[in-house]
Order: sequence, then structure tokens, then C-alpha cells
Amino acid sequence: MRRTLSLYPYGAPRMLMTDRPTRRDFLSTTAAAASAAALAPAASALEQPSGPARFPKDFLWGSSTSAYQVEGAANEDGRGQSIWDEFCRRPGATYLGQSGDVACDHYHRYREDVALMKQIGLRAYRFSVSWPRVIPLGTGALNPKGLDFYSRLIDELLAAGIAPWLTLYHWDTPLALQHRGGWTSPDSSHWFGDYAAVLAKAFSDRVPYWLTMNEPRSFVGSGYRNGEHAPGEKLSLQEVMQVGHNLWLAHGRAVQAIRANAKKPLQVGIAPDCSPSLPASDSPADIELARAQTFAVPREAFEPGRWWTYNAWWFEPAFTGAYPADGLAALGKDAPVISAGDMETIGQPLDFFAINIYGGSLVRAAADGKLERVPFPTGFPYTAMDWQVTPDALYWAPKWLWERYKKPVYITENGLSCRDWVSLDGAVHDPQRIDFVGRYLLALERAMRDGANVRGYFHWSLLDNFEWAQGYKQRFGMIYVDFANQQRRVLKDSAKWFARVIATQGAAITT
Ligand code: GCO
Repeated sequence: MRRTLSLYPYGAPRMLMTDRPTRRDFLSTTAAAASAAALAPAASALEQPSGPARFPKDFLWGSSTSAYQVEGAANEDGRGQSIWDEFCRRPGATYLGQSGDVACDHYHRYREDVALMKQIGLRAYRFSVSWPRVIPLGTGALNPKGLDFYSRLIDELLAAGIAPWLTLYHWDTPLALQHRGGWTSPDSSHWFGDYAAVLAKAFSDRVPYWLTMNEPRSFVGSGYRNGEHAPGEKLSLQEVMQVGHNLWLAHGRAVQAIRANAKKPLQVGIAPDCSPSLPASDSPADIELARAQTFAVPREAFEPGRWWTYNAWWFEPAFTGAYPADGLAALGKDAPVISAGDMETIGQPLDFFAINIYGGSLVRAAADGKLERVPFPTGFPYTAMDWQVTPDALYWAPKWLWERYKKPVYITENGLSCRDWVSLDGAVHDPQRIDFVGRYLLALERAMRDGANVRGYFHWSLLDNFEWAQGYKQRFGMIYVDFANQQRRVLKDSAKWFARVIATQGAAITT
């Protein structure tokens, strides 16, 4: 017997999907949505089979962080400067001028943090390597102390039975390379390939999973298009697309370098993000339009206000060795210059489809059959980032990605920020995180029941950390970090709940 999962009491609409708007784009889109007519409640597409949720025994339960967001120790042991060190010093660039100088001090506390991971029962930890920590100037001399830190972290993880997932690049370009043009330089992909070779030589004996880079769309959009993230540039569209092309080349060269230097069999991928378009109803017309829209790249995909609502440009080339044809046509003279052999370099075979998913936007077929965007209704739930809560994103996106690319899917980020604090009883109660993750996991499990080959889920994030331009105001962790009180860690209620979810293969979500 199947029952319909009632996501909202009182007949409210099922969880609708959101754009994952950046930072400022968000305000304009939601203002428009708020003024639009409220949506009539849609029938629930989220049919949850009765009985407890069940994830496979070998499902990979993980958590993610990134170097600049957690490590701190910005001026220690020979680490070079990154573009984020410089960006944070610009007046007004980050919330209250905050920076990752100290962050969660993970650099010194990694042992304690790995012990907490073990306590939660995590089977995988996704971290990134700080490029300037291991190669202070980005190219040339290595920093042995920097390499040693990651070596010790990896050993600690392995000793705890936790699989290391290594991301090479989570946005912290060495500042010295920025001064040489950064990602606008035609040399940049070679710098990155060399860096990848260094890491592969050092760690491929112990690291089974490799991700070249995190969310090229976010990095290019926020760093080079709207200037809200480091390096804070606002380039022309053609220049921005060339930066994107250089990143793609860098990805391809890194895959080649990792494989060429691998000491043991390993798996390689990339962690882009996806904000799927989601059907407003169960009608086949709405579902098909939403799917097509998720992979469409029209001209507006490159406009600042729409940057976060289109996806395929920023993941498809890695899996097909080609840019989406509609995107190339839409860009016209703004398309990147593509040299002979570039697309072969970019399209290196990958082992899995890693994807960061926080939410999606809602669409339906209008009377004439054309696509219509559906505004979020009044009173729709938001996280502290002001992102809408839309669990169906973890149903449709993994399903469509699996069907389209036939690569095993790993969710490498999903989560939310809450206004968490330590209660009088000394605990950190975060019922909204438990509810959010539970709903998203149920959607994911349903996608798996419906055939999607999903192998793992990484929560963003392990620790409350430096949320880029928003500093420490946003808390994404399952572990609370008391920044003002000697970096004390407190397992939030959600971490204890997640431990039960892992131990019961998901049954604890519904029981
Ligand atoms: C991103 C990054 C993370 C963020 C997280 C919340 O997606 O922006 O991968 O570094 O902290 O996603 O915004």
C-alpha cells in the first residue's frame, strides 16, 4: 500500500522547488514571486511507500566542508595567501569584515573533528585542499608542512574508518596566481593540472575519491560576474565565459593528471551544483517541461538575475565533451574561444556524477503548452539563507541526472542554515534541520526506489563555518561551533538524529 506523504498539514501545497538564488539575485526574484498571485495547492507528487525509509547497506553517509571555510591557520606553517584572504580585507566585502583567518581552527583541531565524525557514524568526509597551503605561490615550490597536514588528516580519517573525499579546488585560488591573471590566464589550466599531479602523487595511495572542483557556476557567477565573492570581478559576458572555459580545461587536465599519477585504483569526478526546475503538478506535461528546462541553456541563462536558474552549461561538458548546443547558439559572439582539442581535454571520462543540490524552482505548462514559472505561495518556508525549502529537488534532479548520464550519483552537498544557538540546557536544538534533512532524504530514497542509482549523501556542512560573504552569520553545521568560546564543538540535535539515521539505514527518519 502506498500513502501520500503529507508534507504540510492543512492541505497546504507540497514542497515546491526553489532556485538556489545567490546572495543578491535572490531578493529580486522573491520580491517578484511574492507579488504574484498565490499558487493554488497542487496535488502531492511525493508518494512515500509505507513502512520505514531504507537506504542500502553500503550507502555512503557523509559530510562536507571546504578548506577556507574551516581550516583557519591562515598565516601558519608556510601557507600562501589566497584570493579569499585578500577579498576579506576589502571594506564591506564580507559580513562585519569577517574572514577565514581562524574559521573553525580545523587545522589544529582535525583530530577532535574526526572523532566527532566517528561518533556520528559518518562513512565519508569531503574536504578540500587549500592550494596555497601546499603550493604557496600556486606553481613551483611545495610547502612540506602543508602537504603534511592533509597527510595527517587522511590518516586520521582512515584510522576512523571514514573514506576521504578530496576536492582539489573550492574557490581559494593562490593570490600569487591571481596576480598573474588568475582564471583569465590561458596558462591557468596548466597550473591546475600541475597542482593536481602534486596531490595525486602525495595522496592517491590513500584517497579513493577525487573531485576536481566545486561548483564552477557559483564561483564564476559570484567571483567574476557579480563580484560578490573573491576575486570580486565584474567582467564582460565574453570574458566571464572564457573564465568558465579555462575552468573546464583545468578540470580536464586535473582528471588526466590524477589518473596519470594514481598509485592505486581511484574514482574521479567534479562537484557542480544543480537547481532543477520542478513540476508544479504530477501531469506528464509539467514533468516533461520541468525536465527539459533543467537541461536547457537559453540566452537568459547568462543574465545575472537568471544565472542560478540554469545548470547544464556548468556540468554537461564534463560528461559529454561538448557545450550544450542551445547555450552556444544563445551566446553567439559571447561564447568562449574553443581551440582544437579543448573539448577532448574537458570531456575526460568520469566515474560518477557528484552534485550539490539545495533546491529548485517551480514550473508548469501554461494553457498554450509553453513553460510558465510558478511563484512560491505566500508563507512558503525559507531557511536562514532565505532559500526556499524544496525537498522534491532531491527526487527529480538525481533521477534525471541518472537517466541522462548513466553515472552513479552522489549528493555532495545538501543542507541549510539555521539561527542556531546554545540553549539554557546546554544543547543546541535544531528541529528545522532535522525536518529539512529528513524530508530531502525521503525524496532521495524515493528517487532510488524509482530507479535512480544514488550511492551517497553528504550533508553540508559538518561544522558551522565561514559562509563566504556572509561570514559566520550563517550556521550550516550539524556540529555547533562556539567561535567566541575557544571553538568549543557541540553536537546539535540534528547530529545525534543523523547518527540514528545512519545506524538504521534511514529508518529513523520516519520512526
Ligand atoms: C556553495 C559551496 C559551499 C557553501 C554552501 C552553502 O555551494 O556555495 O559549496 O561552500 O558554503 O553551499 O552556501
